[in-house]
Amino acid sequence: HVFSDAHREWQKSFFVINIIHTKSEMQAEVARWRDAGLSVALVPTMGSLHEGHLSLVHQAALQADRVVVSIYVNPSQFAENEDFDKYPRTLDDDVKKLEKTGQCHAVYAPSSMYDDQHSTMVVPAGAADGLESLTRPHFFTGVATIVLKLFQHVPAHIALFGEKDFQQLSVVRQMIQNLDLQIEIIGAATVRDTHGLALSSRNHYLSADQFSIAPQLYQQLCIIAQRITQGDAQERVIADAQHALLNAGFDEVDYLEICDAVTLKPAQNNRQGPIRILAAVRLGTTRLIDNIALDQSDTLA
Ligand code: PAF
Repeated sequence: HVFSDAHREWQKSFFVINIIHTKSEMQAEVARWRDAGLSVALVPTMGSLHEGHLSLVHQAALQADRVVVSIYVNPSQFAENEDFDKYPRTLDDDVKKLEKTGQCHAVYAPSSMYDDQHSTMVVPAGAADGLESLTRPHFFTGVATIVLKLFQHVPAHIALFGEKDFQQLSVVRQMIQNLDLQIEIIGAATVRDTHGLALSSRNHYLSADQFSIAPQLYQQLCIIAQRITQGDAQERVIADAQHALLNAGFDEVDYLEICDAVTLKPAQNNRQGPIRILAAVRLGTTRLIDNIALDQSDTLA
């Protein structure tokens, strides 16, 4: 049969997602799928879904028979002064967006993941050191702990994470390796708007003025990559980009670093291998992060 686009859209409108709130139901559902020989993918999120998340769902569906999207705003990765209370919570909208994809089979939306007696945390070092941890020392402990718990509740074959949070992806990969977890981690390319701004739930916090400044973060990352590839010295290139960001209207540069893409340690001049350029900036009270790869074949000046 050849179905028209309209017919396919009509079919999708009947795609009903199972919304699961408890650990036992979630584990039972995954067990049923696995027993039936189906492969399972998990896309962990904190909701407020945008095209970046939906592209993870799409890639998950290409690689597994069943796709679970978890939606949970994890308190342990927010510090006291951060935006836990005002973080957008839009479960109904999120489910509608997922239904439209026709590619998500279950949403796991636990009401709580920590009981009153909770007293064990996963404390990652290595890839978790530096960068985000400089200003958010609690963050990767919260992320590693919740991700490990989610893997227990949704024992999937694969889990997908966006490269937008590149250090998070590295920390999760490191945890899988260090703790011998039976799940494959897949990183997916950052989705950007037409101006180059990386999609993020936190973009909702930006005013119209800030929204017009924000894409310059990505532009500066591209300029850095281009200059490093040409052979300009790292220190000079970083200093110029920092200056340009502040001139563009960003209020602070938390970090702007050229790193080894695997260890996330600062890359030395003259070294070969995959390199990642990572940044975190502040625009008013909003903190934006982004990163790009320097072509693998490039040598640093
Ligand atoms: O990237 C996120 O949305 C969160 O850090 C994650 C991985 C869902 C853990 O809470």
